[in-house]
Amino acid sequence: MNKKFFIRTYGCQMNVNDSELVSAILADSGFEKVENIEKADIVLFNSCTVRQHAEDRVIGRITQEGGRKDSDNLPVIGLLGCVAQRIGDKLLKNIDALDFAVGTDQYRKLPALIKEVLQKKKRATLVEQDNKEVYGDIKPLRRQGPNAFVTIMRGCNNFCTYCVVPYVRGRERSRELDKILEEIEIAGQNGFKDVTLLGQNVNSYHYKNQKFADLLNKAADIKTIKRLRFVTSHPKDLSCKVIDTMASKKKICKSIHLPLQSGSDKILDKMNRKYDFSHYRKLIRKLRSAMPQIAITTDVMVGFPGETESDFMYTQHALDSIRFDYSFTFKYSPRKGTKAANFKNQVEEDVRLQRLQKLIDLQNSITHEKYKEKIGDVATVYVEQVSKKDENELSGRTEDNKIAVFPGDKELIGSFVNIKITGATGWTLLGKKIA
Ligand code: 5AD
Ligand code: SF4
Repeated sequence: MNKKFFIRTYGCQMNVNDSELVSAILADSGFEKVENIEKADIVLFNSCTVRQHAEDRVIGRITQEGGRKDSDNLPVIGLLGCVAQRIGDKLLKNIDALDFAVGTDQYRKLPALIKEVLQKKKRATLVEQDNKEVYGDIKPLRRQGPNAFVTIMRGCNNFCTYCVVPYVRGRERSRELDKILEEIEIAGQNGFKDVTLLGQNVNSYHYKNQKFADLLNKAADIKTIKRLRFVTSHPKDLSCKVIDTMASKKKICKSIHLPLQSGSDKILDKMNRKYDFSHYRKLIRKLRSAMPQIAITTDVMVGFPGETESDFMYTQHALDSIRFDYSFTFKYSPRKGTKAANFKNQVEEDVRLQRLQKLIDLQNSITHEKYKEKIGDVATVYVEQVSKKDENELSGRTEDNKIAVFPGDKELIGSFVNIKITGATGWTLLGKKIA
């Protein structure tokens, strides 16, 4: 009988797509994917290490899961992803419940490793980095739902001083352009009409002489899909050509995630972000003048070492003046091995927490206002599922990535429906279908 595996994913969309690659690799080797953890012989946790909290959570889950092991040591438990890459060896020594740890570049070896773990009851780590691995030939086993992620590049060369990603995901490398286009086309044929291109810094995509704008142009011409998005963009690399391409191609969603991190030039410099606030402001102006309806979201961090009250005020001011549709707000978390972890003037925890709360409150009120401004507009919704709160309602996503709920029949799932927006609660638009 085929051995069954269950995989739980933590962290970013890149990890979600990596779990789909791992699922494909295992399914190709005869393992069977299950959605119920209790039915699995192999439990995999695909982990995130970007903040300490994320790392602690997955370690807690491994220990908890270990309590379910039977006398045959089943289920075996494997750690994948960025925590495995960073401290897999150490965790294998310290956590009895953990059977193996496999880093981000070694997923092809998983089937063989798992077989050995099951048969010989051995424990192992595979964490060697391979700065050429892009898993370009593997067709991901996608989650259910109408949205597909397509990874276009892996790794990062930017070394922002707070960030552990370049250490755990290695150097930046781009996937072959034709392979990406083929994957998008197939995703569309299989019913995934909304495709998100993924990379740590998609704007620095380059394959031979093809840049990100070339890829976007070609991808937007693929007939099998209806919407094209991309994350994440770095403000130092977002070019006018990309902005023009976004504006000129109907299929490219008029929304962008553009991490600001801080509104203070001093802090941006210490973060090694390689832009200042005035550059960022100019990009926002260009984006909005090319696409007045564009939705802009961002990441901001509080409590970076040396952040004074006045630096923090610059960040508040940035949120106030730019009025993002949404901001993902983070409290700085020192990561061992990064430059900033050794900076003097680490900000006290209670100050970090207070600043975080202030930013969350500020952004919530802006988001709320922005959603209310949409009332009366017409939006096209890609219907994803029956609403979790009411079985007579459907939920889906607007072009600018907002969740919208409206009364409708479940036969509409997977189709595009025009709605008139009639209300907004929190982060959800409410509407009525129009002809
Ligand atoms: N502490 C807090 N937030 C971080 N991020 C990255 N590294 C850290 C860290 N050490 C945030 C950044 C990034 C997002 C994905 O996570 O804002 O854009
Ligand atoms: Fe981390 Fe900066 Fe690279 Fe983003 S661009 S992954 S924040 S180092």
